[in-house]
Amino acid sequence: MKIVTPKESADGETRVACVPDTAAKMTTAGLEVWMQADAGTGANLGDSQYAEAGAQISPEIVDLYRGADVVLRVQPPTASEVAVLPSGVVLISMLQVARNAELLRSLAAAGVTAFAMELLPRISRAQSMDVLSSQASIAGYKAALMGADYLDKILPMQMTAAGTMAPARFFVLGAGVAGLQAIATARRLGAVVEAFDVRSAVREEVQSLGAKFVNVEVADAEGSGGYAKEQSDEQLERQRSLLAERVAAADVVVTTASIPGRSAPILITTDMVRAMRPGSVIVDVAADSGGNCECTVPGEVAKFEGVTIVGVKDLARTVPYHASLTYARNLSNLVLSLVHENELAIDLDDEIVNAICVTHKGELRHGK
Ligand code: NAI
Repeated sequence: MKIVTPKESADGETRVACVPDTAAKMTTAGLEVWMQADAGTGANLGDSQYAEAGAQISPEIVDLYRGADVVLRVQPPTASEVAVLPSGVVLISMLQVARNAELLRSLAAAGVTAFAMELLPRISRAQSMDVLSSQASIAGYKAALMGADYLDKILPMQMTAAGTMAPARFFVLGAGVAGLQAIATARRLGAVVEAFDVRSAVREEVQSLGAKFVNVEVADAEGSGGYAKEQSDEQLERQRSLLAERVAAADVVVTTASIPGRSAPILITTDMVRAMRPGSVIVDVAADSGGNCECTVPGEVAKFEGVTIVGVKDLARTVPYHASLTYARNLSNLVLSLVHENELAIDLDDEIVNAICVTHKGELRHGK
């Protein structure tokens, strides 16, 4: 069985879907692993490291795809990349299916069996394949570092000959995978941290990381699969007014609130930014889906009345080595779970395969 990984072509994408560690695991399992030359360059992984791990390197895309059974990617393929995929191949990638209807049609027409990793169900058997969690965890870590970096203060309390400096205050909105990592990182750097989430179930996790869970009386919004449900406009308005004081008191606000398949809810209004001290920072991890702050410019670091608002998209790719390592491990765990006696077994009755398989044998399955 031939497992191939092309070089990512999307602007700014640094990650790679197979790293030497996972190439070795798959070759040990009897699979043939092929990499496009330079595929790992963005993550500082050289072709020689892949070769040492038992992979074959091909500079030519035609050779790479000849006889391929599985293609591993980070970003969805472009139209020209779909055109060279062999019919019958299994494509495993993040596909952002909610906004890629045309891509799905072309994959079905090309006879590709496409697996959209972002649709993985949140069941315990799938945890080792959960790309949203692995990438969110890295994004949350980096968000705390960026907050510290742009802030005009140091984070820990310091007692020096020049007097005492109070610790910086972080406020983390949304305490899911990214939020909890941001809390843990800010705490390690010495900040005082507060956090809030509409799912009250996370209160104890927040507290166990040494942060304070902010009490605001909003209806619990735990939905299916551990995700939050969308709130009504009135609920959001009430939440904003209750949180305004905590935002104003913070030096760094990290926002990570998102609702699967929807635009991110606005939690921080322009007036709330105005009430912050000039020099403070907002890191909007939800910038990918529009942002949690009204002043966020997705993809940019903006300034509003002295407040720095970091709207860098897809923060995980700013840590390409570990983001690639964890992403590639998620994918190799899925691949190895699909292989039986050196054959790929696509069982559509399996809960995981059924959830992620969006095109198969020329048919569109997403939304069915
Ligand atoms: P996410 O990225 O969709 O959302 C981030 C956080 O924002 C969530 O905690 C959500 O409750 C919160 N949020 C949404 N709207 C908000 C609002 N208006 N105000 C404040 N917070 C708001 O979610 P994520 O981080 O991917 O996962 C959420 C949870 O799913 C995790 O904390 C975990 O408990 C569970 N999970 C389960 C897994 C499994 O069992 N395999 C794997 C990964 C996560």
